[in-house]
Amino acid sequence: MKIEPFHMERMQSVWENIVEYNMSESGVHPVSLKDLFELGLDMSKIDTLPLGYSQSNGTIELRKAVAKLYPGATVDHIEVTNGSSEANFILCLTLLETGDEVLFQKPNYMQVYGVPRSLGADVKTFSLLQEKNWEPDWEEFDNAMSEKTKFIYISNPNNPTGSVLSKDSMEKIVEAIEKFDAYLIADEVYQGAELEGDMTPSFWGMSNRVFIVSGLSKAYGIPGVRIGWLIGDPETVAEAWSQHDYITIGPNIISDCIAQIAVRKENRQRLYARTREILGENRVIFKEWVESFGDFFDYIESKAGPIAYVKYNHEIPSVELVERIRDNQDVLIVPGTHFGTEGFLRIALGSPADEFKTALERIRKEIEKVRTFE
Ligand SMILES: Cc1ncc(COP(=O)(O)O)c(C=O)c1O
Repeated sequence: MKIEPFHMERMQSVWENIVEYNMSESGVHPVSLKDLFELGLDMSKIDTLPLGYSQSNGTIELRKAVAKLYPGATVDHIEVTNGSSEANFILCLTLLETGDEVLFQKPNYMQVYGVPRSLGADVKTFSLLQEKNWEPDWEEFDNAMSEKTKFIYISNPNNPTGSVLSKDSMEKIVEAIEKFDAYLIADEVYQGAELEGDMTPSFWGMSNRVFIVSGLSKAYGIPGVRIGWLIGDPETVAEAWSQHDYITIGPNIISDCIAQIAVRKENRQRLYARTREILGENRVIFKEWVESFGDFFDYIESKAGPIAYVKYNHEIPSVELVERIRDNQDVLIVPGTHFGTEGFLRIALGSPADEFKTALERIRKEIEKVRTFE
């Protein structure tokens, strides 16, 4: 199976540990085990845990705890995976056959653009429109959706725009999968990282053709343990488990144990509160920074997710601009082309405020040089 390069992930792997300021992340500054102790999480189970194989679809304790987050779900609706990216990958392997079509929301995290193509599927896209507050282009959507569509993939809250679909849009997407006997993969890994207001509503329960993907990497601030999950009808989830047997067998036992602790209601609330505190402060700093450029940027404030997606008013290609900022200012951000849209930059909102301010000032320096043709 040949696969095209995943440009953003590869750029991050090469540069994120070399640059002085990594602003290409999409998570908040991660917690350590010590932070988890300090947040009051009871970590005593970890010390004496036998380091054997874990249950390959996730321990029953973890699946029970995750099931509580999704009304009506049981342990059989859940497969625990190595990160939400493995959940997406396994779902593609489980659902797709050569010749199927996938309808992919754009801009987006490009994993479920590349993987289906490598499996012989044809990927059509529909856009979120900045001028419509990042709601879908329904004409594109309707033209692309057909009997051949096996599933629609969306991230909601969306990476990179930080937008959240309206209730009407959610209903329209669900109506379409029902009408065409398709599925929906709703990647909700940013749920819980809202910059303000209520928790983003889940697609869970809107149709039995919906799969939810989520995990600990973003709102919980624990990407390094690599725990994600997929949730759906038990029959398909059992098939997904078979795929898992062939790939990584199952998740790491220490990670499963940390996840059991993190997803408990009181602990989850503490981790979300930490995430929201970081985002609340940086959101204000970022807004002021954007406004100080006058009409250079078009920005719709992110609603959820430690990420901001800004359109810039200049003809320089986004990859060139990002490389200038990286090479001259030692700051890494992500070009819009890595999400399927040119003329945008994605800037991380999740680092400690002092680092965030310094990195933004460095980005400013380079942008000013570009604007004055230096
Ligand atoms: C929408 C989306 N899904 C999945 C992932 C992968 O996350 P994980 O670290 O849980 O594998 C990302 C990472 O940026 C993402 O943005």
